[in-house]
Amino acid sequence: MPPPPPPAALDAPELSFISPGHPLYAAELELRFRVLREPLGLPRASVTFPFEHESLHLVAHQEGRVVGCVLFHPDSPGGGRLFAMAVSPALQGSGLGRRLVTALEAELPRRGMVSIHLHARATVVPFYERLGYTVHGEPFTEVNIPHRHMRKLLPSSILGPREM
Ligand SMILES: CC(C)(COP(=O)(O)OP(=O)(O)OC[C@H]1O[C@@H](n2cnc3c(N)ncnc32)[C@H](O)[C@@H]1OP(=O)(O)O)[C@@H](O)C(=O)NCCC(=O)NCCS
Repeated sequence: MPPPPPPAALDAPELSFISPGHPLYAAELELRFRVLREPLGLPRASVTFPFEHESLHLVAHQEGRVVGCVLFHPDSPGGGRLFAMAVSPALQGSGLGRRLVTALEAELPRRGMVSIHLHARATVVPFYERLGYTVHGEPFTEVNIPHRHMRKLLPSSILGPREM
């Protein structure tokens, strides 16, 4: 008997900017809980931020499932905070995190944003460093784990053609 055919490969996740209220928002919150809160023993209520509605939400989705996300809160003239960066465990290390950050960085200058800051978990500082972010200030603790402040100034050359 011939071996069964291999499972059909899934297409690469699609990236979309959404808002709370979008049909994919509940799945975005579920991913954020599973990847960023549940492993730390934190409750589901801890997943949302007070500035949820003023933030940009970029999600990676595949067949209706949200497999990655990154958010951005404009909190100063020309700048803001990248937060809630998460990739589904099955896709970590596949380049999806880099794709999400790159797509967010391509969109921000169109919205008048050129500087990004973030609170990086100490374990993922090298991920952000590879994307051009630099550490500043002293280490600190957030959600009970060590963090570093990181930032990046977007180059004006990023104002090229849209590419996601
Ligand atoms: C951190 C995270 C978003 C990265 O996304 P990813 O899809 O796994 O990362 P990518 O595959 O796009 O990696 C891009 C590069 O960063 C490197 N990298 C990714 N995570 C890394 C880590 N934890 N430590 C060191 N390097 C890392 C990759 O090796 C790759 O390197 P390359 O330039 O040589 O190709 C993802 O692993 C994740 O969701 N982790 C758990 C949640 C988390 O910690 N979120 C961040 C909160 S601040």
